[in-house]
Amino acid sequence: MTAKIIAVVNQKGGSGKTTISMQLAGSLARRENKILVVDADPQGTATRWAASAEDETPFPASVVGLSAANAKVHREVKKFIDDYDCIIIDCPPAADSPVPQSALLIADLALVPLIPSPLDMWAAVGIRQVIVNVSIINESLQARLVMNQCQPNTTLAQESLEVLPEFGIELTKSYLGHRQVYRQSAVFGQTVHNFGSKASAAIEEIESLTDEVLGILHV
Ligand SMILES: Nc1ncnc2c1ncn2[C@@H]1O[C@H](COP(=O)(O)OP(=O)(O)OP(=O)(O)O)[C@@H](O)[C@H]1O
Ligand SMILES: [Mg+2]
Repeated sequence: MTAKIIAVVNQKGGSGKTTISMQLAGSLARRENKILVVDADPQGTATRWAASAEDETPFPASVVGLSAANAKVHREVKKFIDDYDCIIIDCPPAADSPVPQSALLIADLALVPLIPSPLDMWAAVGIRQVIVNVSIINESLQARLVMNQCQPNTTLAQESLEVLPEFGIELTKSYLGHRQVYRQSAVFGQTVHNFGSKASAAIEEIESLTDEVLGILHV
């Protein structure tokens, strides 16, 4: 097998990179895929997330910390490529750090989580430029924006969604709402799937995103 590689990038802190990396990894692993999350962020949030799980219910995907590799993350990730179906690289909040650039060099898909607010959208311009630059070398790189903490009925979200087509990166149809269970997942080292019927809306969002991502990757 040769792993498909997804880089989750955005220079804006707190946009949902780790949340989307871990929820997507867990959801893919539940579908009997072998999944690796590469924690490329020195904050180590993905590593801590997985380490918060109880021994009886371990996080369903593997997590490896590779932030020390810096500009050579792509070389380190390549070493795992034959052992997994999918590798998700959770990048640090930076556009000028060498890590997102390195991750994008070997990625099939860049996912850019974005909170629909003007501040977050302005900040995303930096990472868009990085994606455009890397695409010159990695010609098959695809990219999608994923709305996070989206409240679709608010004026702010609707205004943001209206200007997004001008942004130059396609938007996924799936989005994540603002829900406590996304925070709780991290505390318990799990994904929303472990929270049963009270998490049904969140589970639907993650399953929909997973289907869409697999479609983009032609898996
Ligand atoms: N859809 C959501 N609903 C509610 N809370 C959320 C949602 N997405 C993320 N959060 C919370 O927002 C905070 C930031 O999310 P997360 O850590 O995933 O962002 P990040 O982009 O990885 O941050 P950093 O840039 O620091 O790495 C966390 O406390 C997380 O639990
Ligand atoms: Mg993070």
